[in-house]
Amino acid sequence: MAEIAPSILAADFANLQRDVEMLNASSADYIHVDVMDGMFVPNISFGIPVCKAVYKHAKKPLDVHLMIEQPDRYLADFKKAGAAGLTVHFEACPNLHRTIQYIKELGAAPGVALNPHTSVESLFDILSDLSLVLIMSVNPGFGGQEFIENTYQKVARLNRLREKFGYSFKIEVDGGVNLDNAQLLIREGVDILVAGSSVFNSPDPVQAIELLKNS
Ligand code: DX5
Ligand code: ZN
Repeated sequence: MAEIAPSILAADFANLQRDVEMLNASSADYIHVDVMDGMFVPNISFGIPVCKAVYKHAKKPLDVHLMIEQPDRYLADFKKAGAAGLTVHFEACPNLHRTIQYIKELGAAPGVALNPHTSVESLFDILSDLSLVLIMSVNPGFGGQEFIENTYQKVARLNRLREKFGYSFKIEVDGGVNLDNAQLLIREGVDILVAGSSVFNSPDPVQAIELLKNS
């Protein structure tokens, strides 16, 4: 059974407390927090104060996905704002090893996200340090995009590496996840499914989470 991390990027920002309470009452395992800076990605979402406000009401750990340039500048602030896991982008970190050690020092679970064009093999020399690898199944920046089919074989390759070397990181997939692709993703080795629109655009988000979890 996969773990589910609904993304509050697709929530109603004017009713965030209501939506966080809905997630608390659901079978979601994490709350996925998508931070965008308008530089690393062509869109701005929200930052530290919103993360803090969500944390105040959240009964699930915050899985914070930083789609920002030079994330080291803000890691301590996001940890203070309630992040249980801090995921930075491979493409935004020229000194990734240092960044990962810093996240560990802060006491958060370190994760690295890969854009669709970045191969899983790029992480070969850092895999043993990671709690999470997030494979983007859309180009980051917007919710509601179409799932990129190449993701399946990327997950499978990463899963083979994990098995071969006995690593313990979890594999998370983010973007365009729905009931049509969840089952195959889980079969290829995904542990955590991020879902924005397929949860929040559903007439019954609690049931949508439950269905994804049981797919
Ligand atoms: C994309 C974000 C995703 C996205 C998921 O940049 O990282 O978390 O909001 O939303 P859906 O499920 O709508 O693709
Ligand atoms: Zn995300």
